[in-house]
Amino acid sequence: MNDGGKLTVLLTGAGIGIGAATARAFGDAGYRVIVTDVLDEEGEGVASGINADGGEAEYHRLDVTSTEQADAVVGGVQERYGSLDAVVANAGIAHRVPLPELSDEKWDQTHEIDLKGVMRVCRAVAPAMREAGKGSMIAVSSIMGVAYGWDEHVQYSAAKAGVVGLVRGLAVELARDGVRVNGIAPGYIRTAQALSEEHSLGPEGLEQAAEFIPMGRAGEPEDIADVILFLASDAARYLTGQTIIVDGGLLVGRY
Ligand SMILES: NC(=O)c1ccc[n+]([C@@H]2O[C@H](COP(=O)([O-])OP(=O)(O)OC[C@H]3O[C@@H](n4cnc5c(N)ncnc54)[C@H](O)[C@@H]3O)[C@@H](O)[C@H]2O)c1
Repeated sequence: MNDGGKLTVLLTGAGIGIGAATARAFGDAGYRVIVTDVLDEEGEGVASGINADGGEAEYHRLDVTSTEQADAVVGGVQERYGSLDAVVANAGIAHRVPLPELSDEKWDQTHEIDLKGVMRVCRAVAPAMREAGKGSMIAVSSIMGVAYGWDEHVQYSAAKAGVVGLVRGLAVELARDGVRVNGIAPGYIRTAQALSEEHSLGPEGLEQAAEFIPMGRAGEPEDIADVILFLASDAARYLTGQTIIVDGGLLVGRY
């Protein structure tokens, strides 16, 4: 079933940004890459790029707000390739919503994707990983969830802090079955999310941030991808329940 030992990874939100860079990093590392997103064209493009580079990848539509889709995509992949070796729960949105506009619907929308969406894919892959006695889950949090409070993004900070708790609880629940669960908390990374003037820093804000980031630059998606690859690898075999901050020194550097 496991094709001479080829490892399989599934990523959510992998059509653009951090997810796309991470998919390519896994492709370069020899994994079979299951790219998923709601952006079909972009997701197809990432998968065909990996294939063109001599790797193995396929695209599937997976809206992480749908339990049905999460279960169906994961089930189909497992049928063909066996238990997943790694899953990267990366899909996320960050909308600017001042408190007076923070309706139940806006709150729920972010939580459905950024927190419950993580749970849905982890829950879907867990039974086969437990049975296999191995597997690695990596969830994407944020510095806005582990340390900073982000004004006008309360629902985002709350959901991303929730990811840290999810990682801890699930890590303990699955540890005896050989399944590791970790998080990653990126700092300011140059992607569509951070470059949005409406919802985040915008291009100028990102340049200004570089001035107070100790390493002197905003992060690139590849800076995050390589750490996710490490978390999935056997090099991280004794690491579970942690959310690793990858921010160019931002949090330790501001006094
Ligand atoms: N860019 C940053 O500075 C930064 C910092 C900290 C954390 N993050 C987190 O990193 C992750 C990746 O973000 P990014 O910066 O690459 O942003 P991005 O906007 O470039 O990518 C987000 C991806 O999530 C997908 N997505 C959105 N809703 C979805 C849904 N319902 N189902 C499936 N996929 C969905 C999008 O289609 C897109 O591919 C997110 O969880 C984000 O919150 C980003």
